[in-house]
Amino acid sequence: MKQGLFVTLEGGEGAGKTSSIPYVQALLENSGREVLLTREPGGTELGERIRELLLTPGQGEIHENTELLLMFAARAQHLQTVILPAIEQGKIVLCDRFTDATYAYQGGGRQISNERIAVLEEWVQQGRQPDMTILFDIPVEQGLARANQRSDPDRFEQEDLEFFERVRQAYLAGAQEQPQRIKVIDASKPFEEVKQQLDAVVNTFLREHNLS
Ligand code: TMP
Repeated sequence: MKQGLFVTLEGGEGAGKTSSIPYVQALLENSGREVLLTREPGGTELGERIRELLLTPGQGEIHENTELLLMFAARAQHLQTVILPAIEQGKIVLCDRFTDATYAYQGGGRQISNERIAVLEEWVQQGRQPDMTILFDIPVEQGLARANQRSDPDRFEQEDLEFFERVRQAYLAGAQEQPQRIKVIDASKPFEEVKQQLDAVVNTFLREHNLS
């Protein structure tokens, strides 16, 4: 069996990333490969407990360095015990957020330097990167208006507009630096048009990997 593939989904709040997952998963399954759906922070028993700590509001202040280290602690466990073994078995791993979210939220949002994040990235991932990342991009106010229709805001959703503007700009800067890997979707469009953009991106990716 050939090696599997690693695909990640990224975007700011209310970009429609999560509601597009079943559609992206189905497109990837057309390749005939099994698709393992997972998420960060989370994806393992320990990682889901770390997620709780990171997302539940009202637990007192969490220092930005602690937040960064917890993201990578959850990621180390996830990568070693779930993601890499699944890729080894030939599966396509579809992960809702990964390290681009750290550059966007802890880098852009919390203004931790990219150099510091890169040290942890190298330490935990040892050069392993997603094969493709789909970035759902939406103007911040439009995204937040959507997100606010949902249930109680988590610890990140309580941040202000400037925070999310920095998150968006950091995501877009990453996409500009790595256009081969990071594919930007205009998520401000109606869902039918978003689906067409996803068709194009995912089908090209599968063709490039001889899986269509
Ligand atoms: P979500 O996956 O439900 O959108 O929630 C995850 C939240 O965690 C989201 O607000 C982004 C944040 N996050 C980070 O700040 N850094 C990270 O590295 C990851 C994976 C997520």
